[in-house]
Amino acid sequence: MTNNVPVITFDGPAGTGKGTMSQLVAAKLGFNVLDSGALYRILAYNAVNRGTKLSNERELITLVTDLRIEFRVDNSGGPLQIVVDEKDISADIRTEICGSAASAIAVFEGVREALLKLQHRFCCPPGLVADGRDMGTTVFPGALAKFFLVATPEKRAGRRHKQLKAKGISVSLLEVLSQIKERDRRDIERTAAPLKPAEDAVVVDTTELSIDGVYQKVMSVVLARGVGIT
Ligand code: DC
Repeated sequence: MTNNVPVITFDGPAGTGKGTMSQLVAAKLGFNVLDSGALYRILAYNAVNRGTKLSNERELITLVTDLRIEFRVDNSGGPLQIVVDEKDISADIRTEICGSAASAIAVFEGVREALLKLQHRFCCPPGLVADGRDMGTTVFPGALAKFFLVATPEKRAGRRHKQLKAKGISVSLLEVLSQIKERDRRDIERTAAPLKPAEDAVVVDTTELSIDGVYQKVMSVVLARGVGIT
């Protein structure tokens, strides 16, 4: 519980199904969603576009306060639109290159601190489902149910490759696998809020599970904790 708002967190490396699970659980409970990775991606994308070096922590922090970020709900039930300074960049930030750039700027303590306030603003009634790398450990340590999703790098790369292909982005499976491994290494080894399960997180291995299989496991924990029952 954070400010009396129930929070559910999903952390884990790329391609474990965190995003899909948070959308499903949030839709079921009528909760808000925070895709925290999108914030790191938005910052990285705009830094590159404005010529800010990904190693310049001070300029990156200034950029966080400069950007006008909006998450627009598509009334026809489509995915959330990410609009920055009136430009829809939803597709632009989903590339693996942008994911790697996001991981590179995520090592900076100051950048994480600047994005923390933005993330806390998503925590409003009736509840929040947040996904990322440090939701359960750092951003929402008081969450009522915390999940840490894992899967083999090969399985995760396969899932990512399929998603990218469906979006018309052409990249080899081996390339995706090597990018995923590199990103894992950086996210785990950084000193500022590294990727790791919270002590009270439920770890779910999604390698051999269908989306529905993961969902059933997750919902049984959520309901057992009394979240979403009014
Ligand atoms: O979840 P994602 O693939 O969109 O995240 C992109 C990168 O952003 C990820 O590799 C590391 C960083 N990130 C982070 O450091 N902390 C978060 N809570 C979410 C993402």
